[in-house]
Amino acid sequence: MHRQENLDIKLEELRAAVNSGLSGLAQDRGPGELYDSVRYVLSGGGKRLRPLLLLLSADVFGADLKEARPLALAVELLHNFSLVHDDIMDHANTRRGRETVHVTWDTNTAILCGDVLLALAIESVSQTGSDKTAQLVQVFGDVLRELCEGQALDTAIETRQDLKTSDYLRMIDAKTGALLSGSLEMGGIFGGADSHARMALRTAGKSIGRAFQILDDLLDLVADSQHWGKVQGGDLIEGKRTFLLLEACERATGKDLAFFERIRPGSGLDKQEIPKARERMEELGVFDAARASVHAYTHTALAQVDLLPGDTSQLNALINRMAARVH
Ligand code: IPE
Ligand code: IPE
Ligand code: MG
Ligand code: MG
Ligand code: MG
Repeated sequence: MHRQENLDIKLEELRAAVNSGLSGLAQDRGPGELYDSVRYVLSGGGKRLRPLLLLLSADVFGADLKEARPLALAVELLHNFSLVHDDIMDHANTRRGRETVHVTWDTNTAILCGDVLLALAIESVSQTGSDKTAQLVQVFGDVLRELCEGQALDTAIETRQDLKTSDYLRMIDAKTGALLSGSLEMGGIFGGADSHARMALRTAGKSIGRAFQILDDLLDLVADSQHWGKVQGGDLIEGKRTFLLLEACERATGKDLAFFERIRPGSGLDKQEIPKARERMEELGVFDAARASVHAYTHTALAQVDLLPGDTSQLNALINRMAARVH
């Protein structure tokens, strides 16, 4: 069979196993006031990239992927916790093509929904049933702390005047890179990776995180809205400081610069101004710069993956697909 088809089948099987594990977790729990929203989140789609990275990383070291499943569920649960709280913080009405939890229910429900997802994630890591549980819990805790630090930095840089690219990168390394990196590392730990391999996985994950978040910033403005599942141009409407906005401010002059510089939380763009922003950014080469960065960080990540012992072709292919995603 063709290698590509082989990978497709494997990813579909792994995704299906993750989805059935997730729905099993919340199935018979009550009270409904809490778990209805949890079930809503866990059945609402999502690409399941973090568990897939974890499982393909474990696979490089010959691990039993069935046994790694609770760990894979843990990183997806942690991710979903972060999304439910992120949507409150970002005033986002839509996620995965449906209304967000705080819109469908209310903010208090969404806070608790996120908290319970995190509790389920912790339960899942501790149920891994391996002699490496202590190491795994350690990495999981580090990821969670870093993600919160990243979300705090994301909020803090909204009002900073002299924002530099290095501040942006520090923020995305924490809010997005930590979990992607941790997913790869936890897969490696589960599979018995030595300290060199763990380091390569961590480093690869950080670069994947940068590629992933820069592409998320880009897709937020250019993705086909049917596939994207979030509000198109949502970051500019909300006045978020993204890779695109930083790059636009660096390249623009005169009226264009004034247009981009006024975009801040509380003075984001109107929906009708989004096409104009898109046009100006295109002309300024902002989208090309974003694509070039995604490409470069992906390349750096793949060079680290190449250092691993074992067959890395499937992990390599997944990382390439992440860089080519359209949603
Ligand atoms: C969205 O992550 C949050 C970011 C870190 C940019 P995904 O794009 O992986 O979200 P889902 O899980 O597929 O919906
Ligand atoms: C990443 O940032 C979110 C988390 C790390 C929780 P975004 O705020 O850009 O994520 P989306 O675009 O809402 O998914
Ligand atoms: Mg956010
Ligand atoms: Mg958001
Ligand atoms: Mg985003």
